[in-house]
Amino acid sequence: MIITIHVAAARNGVIGKNGTMPWHQSSDLKRFKAETFGKPVIMGRRTYESIGRALPGRLNIVVSRKPDFAAEGVEHATSLEAALDKARATGAQQACVIGGAALYAEAMDIADRLHVTHLEAEIADGDTFLKAIDPTVWKVIEEHRVDPDEKDDYPMRFTVYARK
Ligand SMILES: NC(=O)c1ccc[n+]([C@@H]2O[C@H](COP(=O)([O-])OP(=O)(O)OC[C@H]3O[C@@H](n4cnc5c(N)ncnc54)[C@H](OP(=O)(O)O)[C@@H]3O)[C@@H](O)[C@H]2O)c1
Repeated sequence: MIITIHVAAARNGVIGKNGTMPWHQSSDLKRFKAETFGKPVIMGRRTYESIGRALPGRLNIVVSRKPDFAAEGVEHATSLEAALDKARATGAQQACVIGGAALYAEAMDIADRLHVTHLEAEIADGDTFLKAIDPTVWKVIEEHRVDPDEKDDYPMRFTVYARK
C-alpha cells in the first residue's frame, strides 16, 4: 500500500488559520476529490472537526489519542500507524493522509508521494504550517500551473513529489 499526502499550502507554508483553510480554492477541492475518492483518508481530529462530517465515498479514519473518540461514519485510530493498519486491512492499494500539520509532519517520513497544491500567495496570520519539503528527499515528478477560475482566490500549481 502506498502512502500519499494531500495538502494545499501557501508560499509561506500556511495550511490553516483558526481551524479552517483561509482561502476558497474550488479547483483544489476538485483535485482533492479526484485524487482521494474511493480510497481511505486519514486525518487528525481537528481536521475532521473542521470538515464536520465524513467525506463521502471514502473510508474516513480519524486519528485521536482520546480513547473514546467516536463520530458518525468514521473509524477511529489512536495513532498514524494504527490508522494505516486499518487502511491496509481493507486491501487498499493507497492510503491518503489529508492533514493537519502534525499528521503531515509524521507522515512525511514514511510517505511515497506528496500531492501539493501550491497557492501562489503569502497568507498572513496563518496558525498551521506545512513542514518544508526537503529537496534532498523529494523530487517533482509532475507539475502544472492552474489559472484561477471565478471560484478560486489565487493561482496555483498542482505538484506531485516522489521520494528520491
Ligand atoms: N491546507 C490543507 O490542505 C489542510 C488540510 C487539512 C487541514 N488543514 C487545516 O489544518 C488545521 C488543523 O490541523 P491541526 O494540525 O491543527 O490539527 P490535526 O492534525 O487535524 O488534528 C490534531 C489532532 O489529531 C490527533 N493527532 C494528531 N497526530 C496524532 C498522532 N500521531 N497520534 C494520535 N493522535 C494524533 C490529536 O487529536 P486529540 O487531541 O483528539 O488526541 C491532535 O490533537 C485546520 O486549520 C485545517 O483547516 C489544512
